[in-house]
Amino acid sequence: MLRLDRYLSNTTSLTRSQARQVLRGGRVTVDGETVKQGATQIPLDARVTLDGVPVAPPLPRYYMLNKPPGVVCATRDPSQRTVLDLFDVAGRSRLHIAGRLDIDTTGLVLITDDGQWSHRITAPSKHCRKCYLVTLAEPLGAEQASRLAAGLMLRGESRPTRPASVERLSANKLRLTISEGRYHQVKRMFAALGNRVVELHRESIGDLHLDQSLEPGTYRPLLPQEIALF
Ligand code: URA
Repeated sequence: MLRLDRYLSNTTSLTRSQARQVLRGGRVTVDGETVKQGATQIPLDARVTLDGVPVAPPLPRYYMLNKPPGVVCATRDPSQRTVLDLFDVAGRSRLHIAGRLDIDTTGLVLITDDGQWSHRITAPSKHCRKCYLVTLAEPLGAEQASRLAAGLMLRGESRPTRPASVERLSANKLRLTISEGRYHQVKRMFAALGNRVVELHRESIGDLHLDQSLEPGTYRPLLPQEIALF
């Protein structure tokens, strides 16, 4: 559901106050009925006309962001800059985050207003893969790598992690792919091994890779073939 004045300002060139004026003039119908109040909540698939001409419904939106450090993955925060503050788009308050990163983690974040699409990424039952570049305080031992691959117990949990894939890049660097999204999962996995994550960067979610041309703090709409991956 969406307020009618916001629906009109999202789908036409009218501002919110112009939309309210147009509504007061009785120029807008919703599913065949004239509606004059901007605050009326209408479904996104309602048939809306302005001066008898159908208004196209707002299309769902999908973006990838290269998250910089120091920005929180929240839609609102009283004291810190959020990833949504980086977005300069209309109807920003309808967007949400499909899989959060910690404030100090960088890289791929997906942002959308399509709840069914984001559910396919974040629902625990989907086991969607997430790939991270991890820099560790201590070199990764062979035994640590095999414990990650087998699945290990995190502090305070009753189920081991699902098997992860580990690609060693140097003594302290690796590429880790996990198919869960537990709270601070990667950092806790390495803490359970007596190691510590010093840098964490998400490279991909499923088969969707961070666009290397996106500078930290910038975003772009997803391409149709990228949206179709989920
Ligand atoms: N795991 C973490 O510990 N932090 C993140 O930001 C993402 C995965």
